[in-house]
Amino acid sequence: MNKLKYTFGIIVCAIIASCSVVKDGSNTKNTNKDERPSLDELCAKYSSDKCHQGHNFIHFYDRLLSPQRDSVKRFFEIGILNGASHLMWRDFFPQAEIFGIDLKDYSIQAEKDGINTFVADQSNRADLQRFINKYGGNFDVILDDGGHAMDHQQVSFGFLFQFLKPGGYYIIEDVHTSLPTYYPDPDFKVNETGSNTTLLMIEWYIRSSKMVSEYLTKEEMAYLEKNIESVELTYRTTRLHSTMCIIQKKFEE
Ligand SMILES: C[S@@+](CC[C@H](N)C(=O)[O-])C[C@H]1O[C@@H](n2cnc3c(N)ncnc32)[C@H](O)[C@@H]1O
Repeated sequence: MNKLKYTFGIIVCAIIASCSVVKDGSNTKNTNKDERPSLDELCAKYSSDKCHQGHNFIHFYDRLLSPQRDSVKRFFEIGILNGASHLMWRDFFPQAEIFGIDLKDYSIQAEKDGINTFVADQSNRADLQRFINKYGGNFDVILDDGGHAMDHQQVSFGFLFQFLKPGGYYIIEDVHTSLPTYYPDPDFKVNETGSNTTLLMIEWYIRSSKMVSEYLTKEEMAYLEKNIESVELTYRTTRLHSTMCIIQKKFEE
């Protein structure tokens, strides 16, 4: 009788095991593994400057966003250019609608590819409001890869944070434009003393829990102070100093 039970047990185990593996010739693959293209592979496919050979932000995105691959529904990135990153996000998040704004009109190309685009200056609240009026808010992720000037980064952050869903992420790329080595570049609009930089705003918030920016309204600063869950600054010792900031919104307002 015991021998019969033992044999039965072995057969059951073998059936369970055969359900969780697929045999293909010499290899045995675990069906639990995600066989879809990784973020790395999609980054390389579309040649975004977020890849390893560029700013390598993809390393942080993989860690942060891969666990949410099947739950992200609304992804908004500022700055379209040739659409490389928007296509990457579209292919990465199967459930998500992808949105983009840019100073230039990329609608013909992007909308053919299933991306919702809108012409807007990210430093202009009226433009941003028009975008929200058309497409709504409640974004899982808002990513700023636009002009990288101090007013661009801070006005967008101050205005758009309210349109993140609870627990969502606001990401500012290229915060390294706040570093002294970039001060001479007029495009980034750093003042003589560097007192208006995005990096200083973030660092001061981390030190004091106070959001201080000459570009934000009092209401925006108060909203941020009340609704930020966490702030993560990443710095790379690369030629580009590629620095980004990931700000998570509280789950409950
Ligand atoms: C770095 S590119 C975006 C690259 C794209 N996100 C990618 O990874 O493939 C920056 C884009 O931001 C746009 N841009 C610059 N200033 C802007 C502003 N004030 N408002 C909106 N877009 C802006 C530029 O026209 C350009 O297309």
